[in-house]
Amino acid sequence: MRFLATILLLLTIGLVHETAASEKKAVQPAPNGISIPAGYKDWRVIAPAHRTDNNTLRVILGNDIAVEAARSGKTNPWPEGAILGKIVWKQKNDENWAAAHVPAALAHAEFMIKDSKKYAGTGGWGYARWLGMDQKPYGKDANFAQECVGCHTPVKSMDYVFTRPAPIP
Ligand code: HEC
Repeated sequence: MRFLATILLLLTIGLVHETAASEKKAVQPAPNGISIPAGYKDWRVIAPAHRTDNNTLRVILGNDIAVEAARSGKTNPWPEGAILGKIVWKQKNDENWAAAHVPAALAHAEFMIKDSKKYAGTGGWGYARWLGMDQKPYGKDANFAQECVGCHTPVKSMDYVFTRPAPIP
């Protein structure tokens, strides 16, 4: 009986622990109401990028719709439902090979979600960004997206997207 009680107690502790852990993981939506896209950590790569002005490494990822479009060269315009993600890390020199720049701290993850009707006010893309490992939503209010659109407007003729898919056979 005592044995059984102990097992039950351990199971309960385990459950409570698990609930607390999953609560901690819930990411708050961006100020414009966009939620962080599910499963983005498993998306495929469209291209890497390296910024020498602020020493950061980036990978641009896509959901299935975006990757199919990228692989078949149908990216102007990108199809409805495409989501592009960009993950940005500070760079450091590899400890065993200084000439190699490798990822250090995570700076942010950000997304562009193609929905011409829903996001007509921001050029047909919904913009959102989450900062750091604790994934804090970026922006004071919904207007933060104007900053994103503003900087992406020079590539309006490329459907507001800078990234050209990296060549893959
Ligand atoms: C200061 C200019 C600037 C601002 C502001 C900016 N971006 Fe970008 N963004 C870029 C550039 C340049 C690239 C492509 C090169 C790179 O990866 O750094 C890019 C790339 C991206 C990409 C990958 C797709 C693409 O266009 O290549 C996403 C997703 C993205 N930005 C989201 C956002 C979001 C969300 C915001 C606002 C919170 C934002 N950006 C604000 C300059 C900017």
